[in-house]
Amino acid sequence: MTAPARRISLTGIKPTGIPHLGNYVGAIRPAIELARDYDAFYFIADYHALTTIRDPAELDLYTRSVAATWLACGLDPERVTLYRQSDVPETFELQWVLSCMTAKGMMNRAHAYKAARDRNREAGVDEDDGVSMGLYNYPVLMAADIIVMGADVVPVGRDQIQHVEYARDIAERFNQAYGDRFALPVPEHVTSSDGDRNTLPGLDGRKMSKSYDNAIPLFGDAKATRKLVRRITTDSTPVEDPKDPDTSTLFALYAPFADAAAQDDLRARMRAGGMGWGTLKDLVADRLEESLSGPRARYDELMADRAELDAILAAGGARARERASALVGAVRSAVGIS
Ligand code: TRP
Repeated sequence: MTAPARRISLTGIKPTGIPHLGNYVGAIRPAIELARDYDAFYFIADYHALTTIRDPAELDLYTRSVAATWLACGLDPERVTLYRQSDVPETFELQWVLSCMTAKGMMNRAHAYKAARDRNREAGVDEDDGVSMGLYNYPVLMAADIIVMGADVVPVGRDQIQHVEYARDIAERFNQAYGDRFALPVPEHVTSSDGDRNTLPGLDGRKMSKSYDNAIPLFGDAKATRKLVRRITTDSTPVEDPKDPDTSTLFALYAPFADAAAQDDLRARMRAGGMGWGTLKDLVADRLEESLSGPRARYDELMADRAELDAILAAGGARARERASALVGAVRSAVGIS
């Protein structure tokens, strides 16, 4: 008897910056954990980044940085298919077919587009000012990424749930039309069960995000990281006073990198009073350095050796493409293009 085929997990990261601690705790680490139970396809959404990145050297650097990050964080490329979106051109063929199944009205309600339109209205300029067709079609390309690999589950942060719902809707519409000839798998999103615990605060206490300029790079050198940790906003609670770990940005940054015993210990020390913010900052910086120095060495190695990274991505790309071309072949013949 053959074992039942494992379910497919798929996710992508858009290479629009150097990965930060929030990306790691919120997306990369949970996806690597999920890969134990699934046949996983993880990719770098380089064409998606073209909605905002205009500098070719930057796109190349960020693409390599995201790939090296996945690997340095423990993704095993023998078990997980790691690839670049651009190495699977079938995605773009499928995107056209899917766009013909996609209601324009639904696209008008997509969060990113709606937000851009609302900003324009508020500014009193044309509502589509600065909106490219790439931004507008972004969710259809994402649906194609997901569907082209036949993904069952898509681990994403909350901000991406709507996109996965769109992919479901689009797959269902295709199936209504062609399901008797070929039915697309209908994906669902998974968000990590710890919810908020996977959302890391940044230097100013708001969600860590490149767009808030409050991020700590995942693999910055130890000195630079310590300097950033020192900049974290704290209040004026005197050294002697107790401090509440549950509202502390510093504790929130410490916890994901510490085991339960170390977390409990720090909680107790904060509540007892007598520890100032400066000491706490040093503890957080020490903890980050302990957790990240090993992976950082691997990251630096991969960033320095283009050939090794390219070979890994090429192998993943070939595997991904094989799968995608089988699916697109079935789609073509379902719609009447052989
Ligand atoms: N839109 C996602 C983001 O910005 C990246 C992405 C592109 C993605 N294609 C995907 C995520 C497919 C999951 C599945 O984070």
